[in-house]
Amino acid sequence: MSQYIMKGGIPLVGEVEIGGAKNAALGILAAGLMTDEDVLIENLPDVRDTNVMLDALAEIGASVERIDRHTVRLNGSSIRQISVDDEFIRKIRASYYFLGALLGKYKSAQVPLPGGCNIGSRPIDLHIKGFRALGADVKIENGIVYAHAIDLVGSHIYLDQVSVGATINIMMAAVMADGETIIENPAKEPHVVDVANFLNSMGANIKGTGTDVIRIRGVRHLHGTEYSIIPDQIEAGTYMCAAAVTRGDVTVENVIPKHLEAISSKLAELGCEVREFDEAVRVVGRSRQFHTNIKTLPYPGFPTDMQPQITVTLALAEGTSIVTESIFENRFRYVDELARMGGNIRVEGNSAIITGVKKFLGAEVSAPDLRAGAALVLAGLAADGYTTVDEIGYIQRGYEAFDEKLRHLGACIELVDDEREAQKFRLRVV
Ligand code: EPZ
Repeated sequence: MSQYIMKGGIPLVGEVEIGGAKNAALGILAAGLMTDEDVLIENLPDVRDTNVMLDALAEIGASVERIDRHTVRLNGSSIRQISVDDEFIRKIRASYYFLGALLGKYKSAQVPLPGGCNIGSRPIDLHIKGFRALGADVKIENGIVYAHAIDLVGSHIYLDQVSVGATINIMMAAVMADGETIIENPAKEPHVVDVANFLNSMGANIKGTGTDVIRIRGVRHLHGTEYSIIPDQIEAGTYMCAAAVTRGDVTVENVIPKHLEAISSKLAELGCEVREFDEAVRVVGRSRQFHTNIKTLPYPGFPTDMQPQITVTLALAEGTSIVTESIFENRFRYVDELARMGGNIRVEGNSAIITGVKKFLGAEVSAPDLRAGAALVLAGLAADGYTTVDEIGYIQRGYEAFDEKLRHLGACIELVDDEREAQKFRLRVV
C-alpha cells in the first residue's frame, strides 16, 4: 500500500508554485455542464477529486477534452442522462454539485448521497432546503437524492448555517430560475466567489458573493467561456505551515495574499516572519515559536481546512495553545496519531489543548482524512528520524505532487509502494 516515508529535521527552504483551488475547481467543473457551448478551464489542479469529477462528467455524456494536466475543455451539449452514479463519485463529497448543476439546467437530477472525509456527519439539508425553496421536489430514497422541478422560481433563502457547498449548489440551481433569488448568510470563501465569477463569465447574473447577501437574477441560458481557477488558499497555507514547523524559509508563489490573511497573521503571532508580495507570501520560521489561540470560522476567519496544519505547528511551539474547531464535529482524529510522535495534545469537546514540546520523534502514522494527512507529513518533516504516513489516498485527493513539491523545498521524502522500498529509503538516507 502506498505511503510517504520521510526523514525529518531538515528546514524547508525555497519557492513553491501553488496550483488551482480544489474546492473552486469541483464547483466549476459541475457548473461547466450548464451550457451547451465549449467551456475552457485553466489552472485546474490535477488531484484525485477533480479527476473523479471529470470521469463522472464523461460518464453522463459530456464531452471532456483534457488539453493538459491543468487545462480541460468541456461541452455539456451531449449529456444524455441526469443520473450520476458510480463507485468513484460516491467517494467524494463534491458529487453533490451535480445536483445543483443538473437541476439548474435540466430541472432534474439524481445523485447518490455524498461520501467524503470522515470529519463529521456532513448533511446536505441546507442544499435541499434551497432546492425546495426554488420549487424543486426533492426526495432521498435508497441513498439517492432525486430532485425535479416543473419550473424553478427565484426565492428568498436564508441559510441557517454558513455552508460552502449549499451556497454553491443553490447558486447553480438559481442562475436560470425565473426571477430573483436572494441567499442570506451565504459562505464567503474565495472559492465560492470564484464559482460565481465563473458562472457570470458564462452569462449568469450573480451579485454580492463575498458579502452577507447574494442576489441572483435568472437568465435564459448560459454560454461558453474560458476561465482560470484561483490559486488554492489551503495548499498555500499548508506550505506556509511547513516553513514554520521545520523552521525553514518558504515562499509560496502564484497566490492571492489577501486570501491568506488569517493564516499569515496567526503565523506572525506565533513568531514567524511573514512577508507579503503581490502574488507571493514568504514565511521564515524561528527557532523559538510561541503559543497562541485559534478558532476556526467561515471566511474571512481562520479556515477549518488549516486546523490540523496549524495545530501541528503549535505542538512544537512554547507554551499552551488552544485550537477550537467550530465547523466540524470530528476533526481532531489525527491527535492520537500525533501522540505517537510525541505530540502532547488533549481534546476536550471541540477544542484541542496543545502543550508545546521541543521535538517530535519519527513514527508510523496513518492519515485519517485529507488535511490531517497533510499535517502528519508536516510533523514527520519536523521530527527526528523516520516517519511513514499511510492511507495517503486521502492526501492525494487534494494535493498535487505533494512529495515532489516538498522535495523541491529540500525535504527528504518519498512515495513508496511497499516495505521493501521503504527499507531501501532508510538505507539510502541515513
Ligand atoms: C467544503 O465542504 C469543503 N469541501 C471542505 O473542504 C471545507 O472544510 C468546508 O467547505 C468548510 O470550508 C469542498 O468544497 C468539496 P460546509 P462542505 O457545507 O461544503 C454543516 C477539504 O479539506 N452543513 O461549508 O461540505 C456541515 O456539517 C474539505 O478540502 C449542514 O449542517 O462544508 C458543517 O458542519 C474538507 N447542512 C458546516 O455546515 C448542510 O446542508 C460547514 O459545512 C451543509 C453543511
